[in-house]
Amino acid sequence: MAPSVQQLPEDILVASIEKLAITKEAPTAAVKEVEVPKEVEAPNAEAPKEAAKDAPKVKRQIEIEGGKTDAKYPQYLPTWNHGQKYPPLEPFTHVEHGKGADPTFKDLLPEGSKIKKLTPSTGSEVTGVQLSKLTAAGKDQLALLVAQRKVVAFRDQDFADLPLQEALDFGGYFGRHHIHPTSGSPEDFPELHIVHRYGATGSEFDSFLANRNSSVSWHSDVTYELQTPGTTFLYIFDSPETGGDTLFANQVEAYNRLSEPLKERLHGLKAVHSGFEQAQFSRDRDGVVRREPVKHEHPLIRTHPATGEKALFVNSGFTRSIVGLKKEESDALLAFLLNHIGRGVDYQARVSWEPKTVVVWDNRITVHTATADWSTGERRHLARITPQAEIPFETPYVKPETVTKA
Ligand SMILES: [Fe+2]
Repeated sequence: MAPSVQQLPEDILVASIEKLAITKEAPTAAVKEVEVPKEVEAPNAEAPKEAAKDAPKVKRQIEIEGGKTDAKYPQYLPTWNHGQKYPPLEPFTHVEHGKGADPTFKDLLPEGSKIKKLTPSTGSEVTGVQLSKLTAAGKDQLALLVAQRKVVAFRDQDFADLPLQEALDFGGYFGRHHIHPTSGSPEDFPELHIVHRYGATGSEFDSFLANRNSSVSWHSDVTYELQTPGTTFLYIFDSPETGGDTLFANQVEAYNRLSEPLKERLHGLKAVHSGFEQAQFSRDRDGVVRREPVKHEHPLIRTHPATGEKALFVNSGFTRSIVGLKKEESDALLAFLLNHIGRGVDYQARVSWEPKTVVVWDNRITVHTATADWSTGERRHLARITPQAEIPFETPYVKPETVTKA
């Protein structure tokens, strides 16, 4: 289906579902919430007292769970503070640490560590490395490795056990922290984007799926910003015994698969990426909007600053139209490109979450989707660190050299 500003962006829907907080004590509310995803009020919340009327509303997951929780990392449970308001983002100069990094990865992958490919083109899994102990050279090589492999899962990490500020300090090496305009975050750490789903039952999930065929929603994070995220981190606290995998599609390979005439035509085009629908979706459900929404035009084909690879840069979450094309043309071309990306199982990777896993992806050259495929009520709880990178840029189309047979 062609994207449309009237259409509910699936990215927003999944984000809301993931942070949906439903107590098992409130099954009626739970069903209602799945039908119209939003953050849930505390079931026992009293009417605000007169004196507290002017205080900003703060919803806390821990209170929604009755003041006690079996979450393994309660310090990472989300809060939603309606008093948090941030000014528009200012441009900043991004330093791309993957550029010029040592391609032997000797500081990132020392002797004894192991790396294996998840699929030939996309994704790797690493064991025997402790990210939190990396030197600056190791971090530079991390940015390069992730740019090359698009997504890398690091197992057995101590990241979740670090003080929250230390985890942020680590991520801040790779770019300026993005504060998400509509997500929940740990109190006093708005830079941490929390992904959280808890307490769903089979009937709630049935209710959700009644109007949708699938929870799959390919997107790159917050591409409506002028400087979109680059090397991005997601780490796990709780996950269902099975299910809740995250899938990644390789946008470099999606570009490579196109015919040369189409590649050449797409170069020079720009697309509109909008955050307005996400903000409105949150407002409509009494969610937070911490920064006024923006939209930006980005090249349809962007070049990675470290590898020089070209990638398709459109996603169903936020890309609304192609600049300069008439509506039917724009809708048709976007629909083709988004369908092409979504069906490319031969350039995608599926990451299964194990305890103590940190997944690092390059948000410039991938799209991803969560998989809401479990209905056991088990908690899925993760935190994202989202360093912003350069303003997307493109380099000219280069025709492949003609191979002449001897
Ligand atoms: Fe995402």
